[in-house]
Amino acid sequence: MPKRELWASRLGVVLAMAGNAVGLGNFLRFPVQAAQNGGGAFMIPYFVALLLLGVPLAWCEWAMGRLGGSHRTGSAPGVFHLLWKHPAAKYLGALGICLPLGVLTYYLYVESWSLAYSFFSLIWNMIGRTSVEDFRAFLGAYQGGGHRLGVSAIGYLFFAITIGVNYWVMSGGIARGIERLARIGMPALFLMAIGLVVRVLTLDPPSGAPPEQNVVNGLGFIWNPDLASLRNGRVWLAAAGQVFFTLSVGFGAIQCYASYLRRRDDVVVTSLSASMMNEFVEVILGATIAIPAAYVFFGHAGTVEVARSGAFNLGFAAMPSIFLRMPGGAFFGWIWFFLLFIAGLTSSVALAQPAVAFLEDELGWSHQRAVRSVWIFLFLASHIPILGFAGGALDEVDFWAGTIGLALFALVESVIFLWIFGAERAWSEIHVGAEVRLPRPFFYVMKYATPLLLAGILAAWAWQQGWDVVRMREVPPEARPWRWAARLMLIGMIAVTVALIRRAWARREKST
Ligand code: PHE
Repeated sequence: MPKRELWASRLGVVLAMAGNAVGLGNFLRFPVQAAQNGGGAFMIPYFVALLLLGVPLAWCEWAMGRLGGSHRTGSAPGVFHLLWKHPAAKYLGALGICLPLGVLTYYLYVESWSLAYSFFSLIWNMIGRTSVEDFRAFLGAYQGGGHRLGVSAIGYLFFAITIGVNYWVMSGGIARGIERLARIGMPALFLMAIGLVVRVLTLDPPSGAPPEQNVVNGLGFIWNPDLASLRNGRVWLAAAGQVFFTLSVGFGAIQCYASYLRRRDDVVVTSLSASMMNEFVEVILGATIAIPAAYVFFGHAGTVEVARSGAFNLGFAAMPSIFLRMPGGAFFGWIWFFLLFIAGLTSSVALAQPAVAFLEDELGWSHQRAVRSVWIFLFLASHIPILGFAGGALDEVDFWAGTIGLALFALVESVIFLWIFGAERAWSEIHVGAEVRLPRPFFYVMKYATPLLLAGILAAWAWQQGWDVVRMREVPPEARPWRWAARLMLIGMIAVTVALIRRAWARREKST
């Protein structure tokens, strides 16, 4: 049997895991979520969710993954089968392959916008566009708004290039592909983000603007708490969702990276370092770029408007307009979009890895064949969110895979690990090779609080709005076809994965 790959160095592990977590979510999704959900008050449910859900689940995923790796299996079907000897366990693992693939079908498209915009930002001053409206129109056209097919030629070209870059990185494998990308990409990302933060913090209000339109008040826009929002259940849900999304927890992606650890590699401290790196990038750097810059140029009302219009408008319409008005704008504009691209790239390879690992570990495919198949599949499947962009296909995939699906998967993995495999065994599994022991209260958090909170969140959602969402009560009939196409794509993906899992286990039986 060929040897299963391993990470080459400890620093490489931390950087690759941080690259997995640090993504578009940190720079685009987080500031908008915070601004829309009570500003500083959002940080209260956010840190509660981080402590009770995110960080504990990250320890569990790291430990589960490392255990799987020592049994030559890195994707959820194999790992669940190890932990729970029930025939259903492996099929539940299908989620740990399909959720990340589902998210990828749109994540790659947004990643490709960043690559395209990093080029555009170098030539914008020649185009003569400045206002946010101009850039909204530009973004709309770029996304294929006026085109019969729903995609622009240039948008399609950059999408294809993005697929190619991802494929190229992953064909190098774990140590020479993903780890090497992280070793170069992550330090570059830190530098770029810090450069942008310094630029934003030294911005002067544009001439003629009132003096209170300054960076300090821009930071206040994100940080001043609106305590009334804490009584709103939606705010808690949004906070929990953001914590999962940003830490990459609840998808099977962290688990899969952890399967390339050695049996005695520490997970307690290493997992915490990677999570804390992500939080630094999100809460300190991510919060200090887009929203405060928007505040300086558009003032309070303008920033409210931009934050409401969503992360894409903030990142790809408001930001270009802001860069054009600041000294050094072309350079910083390039940095902003290239930063987004690198952040996206180190996350998209992580989202594809569970599928690649499954094909290699369970079906015995060669690395090249697995990587090629996964990327051809992704290229084809992404056409649904791309062509159905205006029809809401992207939002639909994001909702089922990126919101409901991840809560479900997190619940499944925590029950399998902590209740079926057993909390005491899980606790000692986490501590294999550990340099420090976790404080015992975390045992109870993991065993009780984490699964109960997850079950509570899912039950509350199902009870309050589940059925209405399933039958699209609030979606006008003409907007439904693309949303159905998105659902069918996800269902089809699960069906194919289940069939492949069956085949893999038939193969296992034959070989024993
Ligand atoms: N955490 C990434 C981000 O913040 C997204 C992601 C989710 C990546 C799940 C991998 C797995 O953008």
